[in-house]
Amino acid sequence: MRVEVVTLFPELIEQATSHSIVGRAQASGSLELHCINPRDFTSDRHRTVDDYPFGGGAGMVMKPEPVVAAIEAATGGDPTIPVLLTAPDGEPFTQALAQELASLPRLVFVCGHYEGIDERVRDGWITRAVSIGDYVLTGGELAALVMLDATVRLLPGVLGNESSAHEESFEGGVLEYPHYTRPAVFRERGIPEVLTSGHHANVAKWRRTQALVRTRARRPDLWEKLLPLSKADQKLLA
Ligand code: ADE
Repeated sequence: MRVEVVTLFPELIEQATSHSIVGRAQASGSLELHCINPRDFTSDRHRTVDDYPFGGGAGMVMKPEPVVAAIEAATGGDPTIPVLLTAPDGEPFTQALAQELASLPRLVFVCGHYEGIDERVRDGWITRAVSIGDYVLTGGELAALVMLDATVRLLPGVLGNESSAHEESFEGGVLEYPHYTRPAVFRERGIPEVLTSGHHANVAKWRRTQALVRTRARRPDLWEKLLPLSKADQKLLA
């Protein structure tokens, strides 16, 4: 998958993506990542990327010319490449959207900044605006990194264990079951006995039960969507 990030802070993206799993995804060729800086598409002496808002008010607005030039450089003018803007008023980012993005051959993230981006850019050059939650960040870089991370780990071959991307929270609409590793007793705290029983069917039942119980207790919103439960799940909770 090839991803371009339009950002005023390319070092932030490059630094954060050079380690761990996303770093390895680049080294192995699963991910090709490029940053494009709108500042490189300015022509004035101060390399200006923002300006005062028409109509007045606090804050600055990202000027359309450098951002659109950067987007066009990112897509090469190919209108089939999705261009996602990070914005607190965008649609919510979800695991389902991460799956959708992971299926694309190419993608452009545009990191918003200052009070916002000239609305004409959104109207003409943005495929969809996406938010990572109901809070306001100082810039879109962290949001783009969150979305990139969630997407890249779903690419084929990126996670060591192929099944681990499918068993976890939100796959199937339930939270993940609890995990334990050695030692079996840590500071007088043991682990659920079933996990050392060697009885795989019982382990699977215990995990499913835990996932359901946690989802009901912690995320009533997800729980509602699980109803009605299957006969098998009802039996586990009985
Ligand atoms: N930019 C500022 N806040 C944001 C948010 N919550 N999600 C995405 N982009 C943002």
